[in-house]
Amino acid sequence: GLPATVRIHEVGARDGLQNEKATVPTEVKAEFIRRLAEAGLSTVEATSFVHPKWVPQLADAEQLFPLVRDLSDLSGTALPVLVPNERGLDRALALGATRIAVFASATESFAKANLNRTVDEALAMFEPVVDRAKAQRAHVRGYLSMCFGDPWEGPVPVTQVVRVCRALVDMGCDELSLGDTIGVATPGHVQALLAALGEAGVPAAALGVHFHDTYGQALANTLAALQHGVTTVDASAGGLGGCPYAKSATGNLATEDLVWMLRGLGIDTGVDLDRLIATSVWMADRLGRPSPSRTVRALSHK
Ligand code: HMG
Ligand code: MG
Repeated sequence: GLPATVRIHEVGARDGLQNEKATVPTEVKAEFIRRLAEAGLSTVEATSFVHPKWVPQLADAEQLFPLVRDLSDLSGTALPVLVPNERGLDRALALGATRIAVFASATESFAKANLNRTVDEALAMFEPVVDRAKAQRAHVRGYLSMCFGDPWEGPVPVTQVVRVCRALVDMGCDELSLGDTIGVATPGHVQALLAALGEAGVPAAALGVHFHDTYGQALANTLAALQHGVTTVDASAGGLGGCPYAKSATGNLATEDLVWMLRGLGIDTGVDLDRLIATSVWMADRLGRPSPSRTVRALSHK
């Protein structure tokens, strides 16, 4: 069966904007986040406290976060931020962040490219981050990249993914997000991974799915995950996104395409689709190119 409600974890302001060539002004990012919250998205990932040389597009995290922080009181919007290490955690906690995300890799190649660490060195780097975040009662998400395929290593064995998922759960992560960073997953592979995770004691209720739409499979993969009990789905308004350290990655599943499918299935998301589309059209104007989302294109007159 399918769930009655789905929680959308909106990543456009982070995963989307981290991949833009042009630097988006901080005020524009803040208005984007505000509009996403007003459109009914209950979780809006805001930015990353990473090294500014690694992701210059998000180097304004210190300026941006205080501009949107009030949304958590105003509308109860959750505003998670990415932190790779204790330095990032310090920066996030100093600004009052209450939800953080660490980001691991299922493959050695991407761990090196994205974190300058081996898989296990990266896990060791996250351990004190998760410990200290939990001690502050922060909510901790654990991302896992390259869960299906890797641009350097090819298809990724399910057992390899399960091992790192278990490590993140054992470390104390409240939820995991299974990343198809380069968009190569297909529904059978998604179901095989979810089944293996279930056998390893990682229940679907603790999992989110994070599909990039490189091969046009993101919606099909999402439906496969919902049929398997997953109720948290990552998506990016207008289909913005990619990853600067994985060149073949394109945008995330577009939030509008996801909402269109879920609405058709009678699954509640709390999102006002018209307001969301207006936000993505507004953002596309700021970025100077149309949204790649099919639903945005079908329902806007641009
Ligand atoms: P490193 O070069 O190994 O860093 O990078 P280090 O630990 O050796 O430190 C070097 C210097 O950086 C030090 O300064 C640190 O203080 C400073 P120095 O003492 O030399 O003056 N530094 C920092 N400064 C500010 N904020 C920090 C920070 N950390 C260290 N947090 C590091 C290691 C992890 C820092 C680096 O690799 C990094 O920042 N990586 C981030 C990459 C990233 O953000 N990628 C995109 C997000 S992941 C993604 O998009 C995938 C996802 O969407 C899911 C999917 O699709 O699969 C989540
Ligand atoms: Mg991503």
